[in-house]
Amino acid sequence: MSEEFEPKILAYCCQWCSYAAADLAGSMRLQYPPNVRIIRVPCTGRVDMLYLLRAIEDGADGVFLSGCLLDDCHYVNGNYKALKRVEKVKGMLEAMGIEPGRVEMYFNSSAMGPQFAQTCIDFTQRIRELGPLYPQPQKAAVGA
Ligand code: FES
Repeated sequence: MSEEFEPKILAYCCQWCSYAAADLAGSMRLQYPPNVRIIRVPCTGRVDMLYLLRAIEDGADGVFLSGCLLDDCHYVNGNYKALKRVEKVKGMLEAMGIEPGRVEMYFNSSAMGPQFAQTCIDFTQRIRELGPLYPQPQKAAVGA
């Protein structure tokens, strides 16, 4: 019997837009995979590249940032900075032989609850297709 791989995904969401979009998705009772653990940040521009790399190092199979729409960042250009950092981290992962698609940047306004839920669905599916980043622990065979 094969079990579907359930990835561990970390999402850094800016409190002004994407975290509110996640909240809206919840209020609208929209379903999205429970694989995504959300960390609220003041702005995606606050997320250092090390936070992304450390998440991967600590066992996340994928990490994404979700910020305000471009040109709508409450701190002027934090999401542009975050986008640049995500691109740099993708390059670092590729240099280490890790699929760059395990890190991504998304933009969701506070009114985009359905789009946020779809972001979680799409990213979770992407990571499922990439497979586990680390070997999965073997389950003991019953009766062995
Ligand atoms: Fe939302 Fe900067 S305040 S990305």
